[in-house]
Amino acid sequence: MRFGYFDDKAREYVITTPKTPYPWINYLGSENFFALVSHRAGGYCFYRDARLRRLMRYRYNNVPTDVGGRYFYINDGGEVWNPSFAPTNTALDAFECRHGLGYTRITGERKGVRASLLMLVPQGHTAEIHQLTLKNNSEQAKDLKVFSLIEWCLWNAYDDMTNYQRNFSTGEVEVEKNGATLYHKTEYRERRDHYAFYNVNAAVAGYDTDRESFLGLYNEWGEPQVPAAGKSSNSVASGWQPIASHGLDVKLAPGEEKTFVFTLGYIEVPREQKWAQPGIINKKPAHELIAKFSKPEQVDAAMKALADHWSKLLSNYSIESSDEKLNRTVNIWNPYQCMVTFNMSRSASYFETGIGRGMGFRDSNQDLLGFVHLVPERARERIIDIASTQFPDGSAYHQYQPLTKRGNNDVGSGFNDDPLWLIFGVAAYIRETGDYGILDEQVPFDNDPKTAVPLFEHLKRSFHHVLNNLGPHGLPLIGRADWNDCLNLNCFSETPDESFQTTGNRTGRTAESVFIAGMFVGVAPDYAYLAEKKGFADEAKKARAEAAKMTDVVLKDGWDGEWFLRAYDFFGKKIGTKDNTEAQIFIEPQGFCVMAGIGVEGGQAKKALDSVKERLDTKYGIVLNNPPYTKYHVEIGEITSYPPGYKENAGIFCHNNPWIIIAETVIGRGDRAFEYWKKIAPAYLEEQSEIHRLEPYVYAQMIAGKDAVRHGEAKNSWLTGTAAWNFVAISHYLLGVRPDFEGLRVHPCMGGEVGKFTVTRKCRGAEYRIHVKNSGKGGVPKLVVDGKPVAGDLVPYAKAGSTVIVECEV
Ligand code: BGC
Ligand code: NOJ
Repeated sequence: MRFGYFDDKAREYVITTPKTPYPWINYLGSENFFALVSHRAGGYCFYRDARLRRLMRYRYNNVPTDVGGRYFYINDGGEVWNPSFAPTNTALDAFECRHGLGYTRITGERKGVRASLLMLVPQGHTAEIHQLTLKNNSEQAKDLKVFSLIEWCLWNAYDDMTNYQRNFSTGEVEVEKNGATLYHKTEYRERRDHYAFYNVNAAVAGYDTDRESFLGLYNEWGEPQVPAAGKSSNSVASGWQPIASHGLDVKLAPGEEKTFVFTLGYIEVPREQKWAQPGIINKKPAHELIAKFSKPEQVDAAMKALADHWSKLLSNYSIESSDEKLNRTVNIWNPYQCMVTFNMSRSASYFETGIGRGMGFRDSNQDLLGFVHLVPERARERIIDIASTQFPDGSAYHQYQPLTKRGNNDVGSGFNDDPLWLIFGVAAYIRETGDYGILDEQVPFDNDPKTAVPLFEHLKRSFHHVLNNLGPHGLPLIGRADWNDCLNLNCFSETPDESFQTTGNRTGRTAESVFIAGMFVGVAPDYAYLAEKKGFADEAKKARAEAAKMTDVVLKDGWDGEWFLRAYDFFGKKIGTKDNTEAQIFIEPQGFCVMAGIGVEGGQAKKALDSVKERLDTKYGIVLNNPPYTKYHVEIGEITSYPPGYKENAGIFCHNNPWIIIAETVIGRGDRAFEYWKKIAPAYLEEQSEIHRLEPYVYAQMIAGKDAVRHGEAKNSWLTGTAAWNFVAISHYLLGVRPDFEGLRVHPCMGGEVGKFTVTRKCRGAEYRIHVKNSGKGGVPKLVVDGKPVAGDLVPYAKAGSTVIVECEV
C-alpha cells in the first residue's frame, strides 16, 4: 500500500495522508543550522550540535509519537485545526506534505480555508523560515484567529531532559514589537553568548511565551486553551517552559490570500556586545537576520538558491533509463541521503536522539564514499579531522566529537577494522579528485600538534596495525569488534547496563576476524598504489606480498567448505561454520572477501555467494546470519542479545547487502545483483509501505529478517552507512561508472531488464556522457571513446572543461 507518490520533476516525495505508518521525515539545512521535520510538522532544530545547541524541545518515545514541532493553530468560527493535522487531529478536507531537497511544504484544507506551510533553512543563515499562506476558497468572508507555536529547549538537550530541579527556574524571555518578535534568552545572563528568537513579519494581536498559559496545565498539545479561546494571553515566561507563540487576526474575503513569514533564528553575540542595556539583550544581529526574510520574495529567492545548489550537486552523477525507480534513486534520493549522513553522521534522526553518539571513525570514512563526488573539498577536511584522532600505533578512537574534533575517551578504541577504513576513505577521495597532495598534509596523532606527520604515514600505520595484530592463524585480531559492533569476542558481560563495546574484559590474542582479513586484502592494492606514487616501492611490494599471504590464510583457515568463516572466538572456536547449530553463516566475510577478489579464481567466491543465496536471501533482502542466535552467549556478545531476526542477529542489514551486490558484479552476475538491490532500495518498496513502514525515499539501516516476528518491517532510516554503500553498489558497480586513479572506469554489470541507459558523470572538471547498451550478460565492455575504440574498461581522464562521449556495449 502507498501513502503518497514521487514527484520526480519537482524532486519531491508527496505524502497524501497524515496517517503514514511512521513519521516520515526530512532534513533542512546544510551548513551550520539543521532541522528535522516530519510530515506532521514535528521535529526540532539545532545549531551545529544536536546536543549542545538545541533550539526546540522534542520528546522521543512519546505518546502519541511525534509531538512537538512547528504548529499553526487556526480557529475558524470556534473550531481549531492545524494544516499539519497534528496536534489537534481535526479532520481535514485535504492534506499534502511535500518533502523536497532541503525544504518541506505541508498543506491542509478545511471548510474552504487552505493553509500552506513552507519550511526551509536558507543557505548561509542560521534560521528556519516558516512561510504560512492562507487562502479563502469559500464563498464567505473568514475571520480567522491564527496562532503559531514552538517550544524552546533549554539548549543542552540532555540537561533539558534530566535536570528539572534547576531548569524549571532558569527560563527567560524578552518580548519586542508587541509580541511580533519573541526572544529566548535562557542562560544568556551567564555563560551563553547566544539566544534564539521567533519573529513574524506582521502586526500581531497578541503573543504567548509561557507554555502553561498557552496550553493549560493539564491540556494536551491538541487542546490548547489559547487557540480555543481565540485570544493570546500575552504571557511572559519566568522559569518553567518558555515557548513562542504569535496570535494573528486574519480576515480573508472570498478568494483572498495572505502570506506571513515567520523566522526562527539563532544568534551569537561577541561577549563584549551582549547587552543593549543592563538586562536587555543586544538585538541588532537579530534585526539584521529578520530583515533578510521579512518578505515572501526573499523566501522565494532562498528557495531558488536552494534548488540551484541541489541541481549543481546532483549533476555530478545522473542517469537516464527506462526504470523510473532506478532514476529517482540515483539522481535524487540516494545522493540526498548521503549528504544528510555527511551533515548528521549518526547524531539526530527519529532513531538517534542527537544526545548520544559522536562521529564514528569507521562510519565517517564509509559515509565519505557516498558524498565525495558531491563535496570533495569538504571530504578532504573530513579526512584530516578523522586522521587527526588516530593513535601513533595506527589504532583509532572509535568516535570523535564534532564540536571539539577530539577522540571520545568514553568509547575508546580497539575496534580493529577502524584503521583500515582510513585507507578506504583516502583512496576514494584521491580517485575522485586526483589530489595526491593530501598524502603530504601534516596530520597529528590524537590531536597533538607535536606529533604531526604526513597523512601517508597515517595510512602506513593503519596498514601495519593489522600486521602487528595477527592471531594464531595469521588472521587479524578482532579487538573489541570489527564492522559488526555486536560481535564482541573479548567482552564477557554478565552485568546488566554494562556496554558490550567498551567492556573489553578479556585481553587474549586469540579472537580473529575473517572480515578484517578480507578488508585488508581489499585495501592492499590501493595502499600499494599510493605507496608507489609516493616513491615507497619497497613498501608497495611488501603490501602486495602481505595481501597475497593473507589471501592464502583466508583460503586455508578462513574457509568453511561452502562459504567463508566469520571469526575465531576467544577460545579459538570457529564462528560462522556448518559445525555450529546457530549462526552457521554470516554475510560480512562473503561480501568483503569476494570484493577483495579472494577465491574468484579458485571458485570459492562463487560457492560463497551461492551459499548466501541459499541460506541468507529472503523476499525482503539478505539477512546478516543464519540460523539466528536464540540464546545469549557470553563469549559472543551483543549480537546474541537481540531477539532472532532483529538488528545484527539475523536482521536484514541494508548496510551490508550492497557488499553482496558488489560481490555479485565481481563474478559477473548483474541480474542477481540487481534483484538483490531492488529488495532493499526504498523506491521499490513504496508499494509495501504498510509492511516496511519507513520512508519510501531513503534507506533504512535494518529490515526485520525472516526469523523475526515482523519480517519486512524496517527501522533506523536516514543515518546509516547504507546510504553510501548502496550508492557505491548501484552507481559504481551495477551502472558501472567509477573514478579510478588513472581514469574513469566504465564497467557496467546491470540486470538485463534495464536495457539501454545513459550515465552523465562529472569528474575532475570534465563531463563524461556514457551511453550503455546493456545485454545483462556482464563481462568486459566494448568501449568507444569520442569515436575511437579503447581496449579495457578505462576511460582516461580528460582536460577540465571538456565533454567526453563514451559508447559502451556490454
Ligand atoms: C547496535 C549497532 C550499533 C552500536 C553502536 C548497537 O546496539 O546494534 O548497530 O553500531 O550499538 O554502539
Ligand atoms: C551501526 C554502526 O554505526 C556501524 O559502524 C556498524 O558497522 C553497524 N552498526 C554494524 O554493527
